[in-house]
Amino acid sequence: MRLGCFTLLCLCCCWFVSGEGETVSCSNVVPLGFRTENISITEFGGVGDGRTLNTKAFREAIYRVQHLPRVGGTLLYVPPGVYLTEPFNLTSHMTLFLAAGAVIMATQDSSNWPLIAPLPSYGRGRELPGGRYMSFMHGDGVQDVVITGENGTIDGQGDAWWNKWRQGSLQFTRPNLVEFVNSRDIIISNVIFKNSPFWNIHPVYSSNVVVRFVTILAPRDSPNTDGIDPDSSSNVCIEDSYISTGDDLVAVKSGWDEYGIAYGLPSSNITIRRVSGSSPFAGIAIGSETSGGVENVLAEHINLYKMGIGIHIKTNSGRGGFIKNITVSHVYMEDARKGIRISGDVGDHPDDKFDPNALPIVKGVTMKNVWGVKVLQAGLIQGVKNSPFTDICLYDINLGGVTGPRTPPWKCSDVSGFAHQVSPWPCSELSSNHQGSCANYS
Ligand SMILES: *[C@@H]1O[C@H](CO)[C@@H](O)[C@H](O)[C@H]1NC(C)=O
Ligand SMILES: *[C@@H]1O[C@H](CO)[C@@H](O)[C@H](O)[C@H]1NC(C)=O
Ligand SMILES: *[C@@H]1O[C@H](CO)[C@@H](O)[C@H](O)[C@H]1NC(C)=O
Ligand SMILES: *[C@@H]1O[C@H](CO)[C@@H](O)[C@H](O)[C@H]1NC(C)=O
Ligand SMILES: *[C@@H]1O[C@H](CO)[C@@H](O)[C@H](O)[C@H]1NC(C)=O
Repeated sequence: MRLGCFTLLCLCCCWFVSGEGETVSCSNVVPLGFRTENISITEFGGVGDGRTLNTKAFREAIYRVQHLPRVGGTLLYVPPGVYLTEPFNLTSHMTLFLAAGAVIMATQDSSNWPLIAPLPSYGRGRELPGGRYMSFMHGDGVQDVVITGENGTIDGQGDAWWNKWRQGSLQFTRPNLVEFVNSRDIIISNVIFKNSPFWNIHPVYSSNVVVRFVTILAPRDSPNTDGIDPDSSSNVCIEDSYISTGDDLVAVKSGWDEYGIAYGLPSSNITIRRVSGSSPFAGIAIGSETSGGVENVLAEHINLYKMGIGIHIKTNSGRGGFIKNITVSHVYMEDARKGIRISGDVGDHPDDKFDPNALPIVKGVTMKNVWGVKVLQAGLIQGVKNSPFTDICLYDINLGGVTGPRTPPWKCSDVSGFAHQVSPWPCSELSSNHQGSCANYS
């Protein structure tokens, strides 16, 4: 057994690595306290009949938590029932507790949905210029917030939004289901997220965030329903979750082109562990918005089924930023179009003011113990001309089961690194006998 430690804010966090019978976890980046007070949404007029609009109840209950704070914070209990509501803000030192059978359901009426300013690191809404709809549950500048319970459901009723997107009739960027901006000490656990209008869980400019034991579901054809997107955030722990959506299951981001470069806030220290699921896009993704930089990402024990791409690291010219020190290990994938892709030409631009000479740096990507069956194409590693991807290190990879017409199993350009025990054998750009600086990453 090895013991790993890091210190942050005078807080020592230790975790046990590969000890027998112990489960490795990063969840202690946020200590879980006990709430000294328990109030119920019904005390504020909440009615769980699926029809009554509970906006006033949620906003008043949370106003009460904010303005009459208790030492240790307050738990807001949502009993079984279906509570329809418009979006609301969360506040510090609160737990939103969804009992078994509790559903907090978003209204589909976008005409009353508040607009908020775009994120400075994006310069505009992600889909459309201008502002964006606030997320269904929103936290701005908050700390010590827990969303948990007995696997109750947060239902975004996204189909109305998806249809508007398909018809091209949206005026602004669709809302996330849950977003935390400039926040810290956040725990999201034992909740089911369903049918988000857009991304599901979006911590941005935040630190010390734990997401575990969650289930995130959206139809395979639902547009942009990413599962969890840590964005310019650090010390994020994602564990023990099942995610099946219409877009990337987990995507680590950090802002968009000239806006992200100017904002300059990286995503760092991100752990993704024991996550499984299915998607027509990527399982574990980094990017494509990485202009503030992404570093120190560990993804391990990942199980993927019916995938577009198992692992996808994506950036583009004009993005700038960096992607450094990424480790992905113990991945099993079954039925995927592509196993591994690291690409330097993916993702759109916010506007025509991006600097085409802002080239991203991709350095130090280790993938090991990756096992795939029914993988159509093993890998694509295509760096940026004049900014080749370096220290791309592949160990113990078997991506088999290609039955159809042979495309070349691997395709590489503008890349260097090392490969050891990789089958089918990757491209000649990766050395088989000089480990080089890959030794520093394994
Ligand atoms: C909070 O109070 C409700 C009754 O309003 C009770 O059913 C529930 O068990 C309590 N929850 C916790 C976590 O104490
Ligand atoms: C939510 O909080 C933001 C500030 O963070 C504020 O501008 C907005 O009016 C609040 N919205 C609602 C619906 O309370
Ligand atoms: C809730 O879901 C999680 C993750 O699927 C599971 O581990 C846990 O046992 C469930 N809890 C309850 C109370 O059903
Ligand atoms: C990330 O973790 C390292 C040690 O593992 C620590 O030194 C660093 O401060 C952390 N970064 C942030 C932004 O907290
Ligand atoms: C690289 O990332 C890992 C997490 O995957 C972290 O433990 C390690 O300290 C990082 N290395 C450096 C040099 O920051």
